[in-house]
Amino acid sequence: MNRRKFLSLAGASVVVVAGTTYLLSDRQHFVRDDIKGNNNNKLPLKPDEKEILYLASLAPSGHNTQPWIVKYLEPYHWIISNDKTKWLPAVDPTQRETILSIGAFIQNLEYAAAILGYSCEFSLLALNNQDEDIIEAKLKKTTNKVSFDTKAIKLRRTVRSGYMKEPLKKEHVAFLTGHDKDYFHFFSNNSKEYCWLNEQTIEANRQQTFRDAAQSELADWMRLSSKEAKKYCDGLTTASMEINGMPGWVVRNFYSKKDVMGKKFREQGLDKVKEQVGSSGGWLLITSKDNSASTLIETGKRLQRMLLKTREKSIAIHPMTQILEEAEYRNELNQSIGISNTVQFILRAGYVKNYPDPVSLRRPVERFVKIQ
Ligand SMILES: Cc1cc2nc3c(=O)[nH]c(=O)nc-3n(C[C@H](O)[C@H](O)[C@H](O)COP(=O)(O)O)c2cc1C
Repeated sequence: MNRRKFLSLAGASVVVVAGTTYLLSDRQHFVRDDIKGNNNNKLPLKPDEKEILYLASLAPSGHNTQPWIVKYLEPYHWIISNDKTKWLPAVDPTQRETILSIGAFIQNLEYAAAILGYSCEFSLLALNNQDEDIIEAKLKKTTNKVSFDTKAIKLRRTVRSGYMKEPLKKEHVAFLTGHDKDYFHFFSNNSKEYCWLNEQTIEANRQQTFRDAAQSELADWMRLSSKEAKKYCDGLTTASMEINGMPGWVVRNFYSKKDVMGKKFREQGLDKVKEQVGSSGGWLLITSKDNSASTLIETGKRLQRMLLKTREKSIAIHPMTQILEEAEYRNELNQSIGISNTVQFILRAGYVKNYPDPVSLRRPVERFVKIQ
C-alpha cells in the first residue's frame, strides 16, 4: 500500500470511528419536556392535587435541589416539609436558601390552588430553618374566581445569558415590585452601587469556585450526562447552565466530577461570570427585616410573585448569591450599598430579545409526596 492510500484509509477510519462515537453519544440536552411522570397509581392523589403540586414544584431553588417534601395526610391536607437530603451545607450552612426556596414553592402552590378553585389555609410549623415540618396546608373549594394565568408559572425560568444593557424602565420596576416595593431595591447600571455589586460578585465567585467544599458540592449537583439528568430529574444540566452546542456535547459525553474540580473548569466558570456581570440592566435586591423562618418563607413568596411577572415584560432574572454566601463579602454588603435591612437576594436583571423556554428539570410529583 502506498503512503497516500494508507493515509486516506486511516483518515476514513477516523471519520468512521468519530461518526459512530457521535451517533452513539448523547447529542441533545435532556430537558423538562423529556420527563415522563411514573404515574404511580398507588398514590391517592386527586388530579387537581397532582396538578397543584406539579405547578408548585416549578419554583426555583438553589442548585435546583428542590428541597421540599409533601407529607400527604388526607385529600387536600398536606404538610410541606424540609428535605434534609437536599441541603447545601457548603454554600448555605444555615439553610437560609432552602427556606427561601420552600417559600417560592408555597407561593406557586397558593396561586396554582387558586387557579383550580381552591383557597389555602396555611399554618406555620417551623420555628427554625432546620425544622422538618415547615407549613401545614389545607385547601378548600372556593367560588372566588382567580384570573391568574398558569402559563406564568409554567414559563418562568432563570435566564443567564443574552441580557441587554438597557436599564430597566422605572415603570417596569414598579410593575415587578408592586405592593412589595419596600422590600425591593433596584440599582440601575449607571449607579455606583451597581459597579460595586458587579466587582464583588466576580470576587465572591472567585473565592467560592476555588473553595473546594463549595465546588465539590456544586459538582455533586451537576447532572453532566443526560443519563444522570434523566435519573435524578434535578440539579444543573448543560441546558440549564446554558452550555449549548459543541461545548454542551463535550461536557455531556466526556466530563466528570474530576473535570469540574479542575483549574480549567473553575477558570472558565469565572470567565462566564465576568461576561454575565458585564451585561445587565441593573441589580434587583430583596431585603427582609429579620432572618426568622417565617420571614424567609415570606421573602421566598415575595421573590416568586415578582418572578412570575417578569416574562411578560421580557425581563430576565438571574440570582447571583455568592456575595451572600461568602462571609467576607457579605459583611461588607450593607454598608457599601447603603441598605440597613438584611439582603436575602441579589438578582441580576435585564431585558432579553428572545425569552427562552424553561429547561430545568423537576422530580415528578410522585417522588416528593410521601403518604403518612
Ligand atoms: C435561593 C436561590 C439561590 C440561587 N442562587 C443562584 C446562583 O447563585 N447562581 C445561579 O446561576 N442561579 C441561582 N439560582 C437559580 C437556580 O439555579 C434555579 O432556580 C434552578 O436551577 C432551577 O432553574 P429555573 O429557575 O430555570 O427553574 C438560585 C435560586 C434560588 C431560589
